[in-house]
Amino acid sequence: MKLTSANINVMVKACRKASKILIRDFGEIEKLQVSLKGPGDYVTASDIKVEKIIIDELQKARPSYSILSEEIGQINNDESFRWIIDPIDGTSNFLHGIPHFAISIGLEHKKEIICGIIYDPIKDEMFTAEKGNGAYINNQRMRVSSRAKLKDCIIFTGGPKYGSPNSDLSLEEYKKFSSKVTIPIRKLGSGSLDMAYVAAGRCDGYWQRNLNYWDIAAGIILVKESGGFVTDFSGENEYIQNKTILVTNAKINNEMIEVLK
Ligand code: IPD
Ligand code: CA
Ligand code: CA
Repeated sequence: MKLTSANINVMVKACRKASKILIRDFGEIEKLQVSLKGPGDYVTASDIKVEKIIIDELQKARPSYSILSEEIGQINNDESFRWIIDPIDGTSNFLHGIPHFAISIGLEHKKEIICGIIYDPIKDEMFTAEKGNGAYINNQRMRVSSRAKLKDCIIFTGGPKYGSPNSDLSLEEYKKFSSKVTIPIRKLGSGSLDMAYVAAGRCDGYWQRNLNYWDIAAGIILVKESGGFVTDFSGENEYIQNKTILVTNAKINNEMIEVLK
């Protein structure tokens, strides 16, 4: 049976409230006011509205916790607990009317992620995990896939644009990877959902460069609690912010490390 903690309940409540606005705005996407924040990185009126609702809800329930959120940045309070928020992960999809984006909230305690929630409001899929208590999709327990050979797998990757200076994935790296394997590589446009899908066993691995902490904070605990691995490309270190991230079902970890060399 699923155990829900008070912190998960707080996160779910904040997500559900914010997602009402998100769903409404998605329906009215053409009317949205859009401003360019940087190459491949847009900020919309929705990002800001959704972020505000989430932060208000979290602060109401846990006034002492610190916050790191994509649009607003850092709010310093309690040094040991911190919410890590991406109000819309998959903004380009959102702006183009593609129904694949999510709200992502992680909770850190003494620099370790202990709870995570990724909510896809269009598919109404709530991915949750808490340290030591497993990972769930809606109310069902999740496990990573059991595929043990890379040749049988689907792998995700991401990045705003191939070859752009800010790219999470250079064209050269993509070419190198795909020249070594003949498997489907998918780029769905939401790093948090990419990680949630590894946790749910829908895909088997994910790699990317230059992600921000809010893109992956919740995903880290989802993958770990589902039996997967989250490391850098070498497989030896914990994921390092803005460097490289490798997420796998554990079984294909060594093969992925070899291919990424
Ligand atoms: C982006 C998405 C995308 C990833 C980019 C991220 P955003 O986040 O997670 O999948 O490839 O690197 O910046 O901008 O939609 O919150
Ligand atoms: Ca993001
Ligand atoms: Ca975002």
